Amino acid sequence: MPVVLTDLAEGILTVTVNRPEKLNALNAEVIEELRRVFHEAKSNAEVGALVLTGAGEKAFVAGADISGFPSLTPVDARDFARKGQAVLDLLEKMGKPSIAAVNGFALGGGCELAMACSMRVAASNARFGQPEVALGLIPGYAGTQRLPRLVGKGRALELILTGDPIPAEEALRIGLVNRVVEPAELIPTCRALAAKILGKAPLAVRYALEAVNHGLELPFDEAELHEAALFGLCVATEDMKEGVSAFLGKRPAKFAGK
Ligand code: COA
Repeated sequence: MPVVLTDLAEGILTVTVNRPEKLNALNAEVIEELRRVFHEAKSNAEVGALVLTGAGEKAFVAGADISGFPSLTPVDARDFARKGQAVLDLLEKMGKPSIAAVNGFALGGGCELAMACSMRVAASNARFGQPEVALGLIPGYAGTQRLPRLVGKGRALELILTGDPIPAEEALRIGLVNRVVEPAELIPTCRALAAKILGKAPLAVRYALEAVNHGLELPFDEAELHEAALFGLCVATEDMKEGVSAFLGKRPAKFAGK
C-alpha cells in the first residue's frame, strides 16, 4: 500500500498520508514520497490547490517516526531535519494554496506539516502539539520558526516547552487553525475553501502567496517594494484585464491564468 495517496479532482489534489496503523507517522519513505508529490504538483498545471490529510479517523500525522530515532547519529539527525524542512518549504513556497484538513492528532512533525500549509481546518476532535521535549528533542521541521510566526512567541514557547497538546477549539482561539468543523464536514469544508480560491485569478493567488510568504521574512520596507513589484506584475496579466472588465461589465470573470 502506498504511504502517500493522491487524488486529483476539479483542480484540487488531495494528498493523504497513509500509515494509519502508526498514526501516519512520518518515516523516511513518507517524507520522500511527499517530496515527490509536492515537486510534481508544483509543475502540474492541472493542480490548482492542495488538501492535505491523514488516513484513518484518529490522526492527521502523529509526528516523525520515533522508531528510527535510537539509531540516528548526529549527522543523520541533521540530515533528517534538513530534508523535512526542505519538503515543507517546497509545500509552502509552491505558489499554490494548500489546506491542511486536520482529522485528529497533529503532533510534532504533523503540526509542522500543517503549519507549512497556507491554511488549517481542524475537525473538532483534532489535537495539536509539539511534544519533542518529552523525548529529549526539539522540533526539527521548522516548528520553532513557523509556530511563533502563527501564534506569537509566548504561546509558541508554551507549546514547545511544555509539550502539552491542545484541542481544536484552543488552536482556533490562538490562531493556529482557521476553522473548526465537525469531522464529517472536514473534507467538504476544505474542498469548498480550495474551490473558492480556484475561482480567483491564478496568477494573483500565486503572487499573493509569494508576497506574504516571502515578504514576512524581509525587512518591512523591502517587503513593501516586493509587494509593489508583484502588484505591478499583476497589471500585466490578462487576468487583471478580465477581472476589472468583468467587474465594470457586471458579469462573472473568467480567468485563464495568463
Ligand atoms: N512514531 C512512531 N510510531 C508512532 C508514533 C510516532 N510518532 N505515534 C504513534 N505511533 C504508533 C504507536 O507506537 C502505536 O504502534 P503499535 O500499535 O505498533 O504499538 C500506534 O502508532 C498507535 O499509537 P498508540 O500510542 O497506541 O495510540 P494512542 O491512542 O494510545 O496514543 C498518541 C496516541 C498520539 C498520544 C501517541 O501515539 C503518541 O504520543 N505518539 C507520539 C507523539 C510524538 O511524540 N510525536 C512527536 C515525535 S518527534
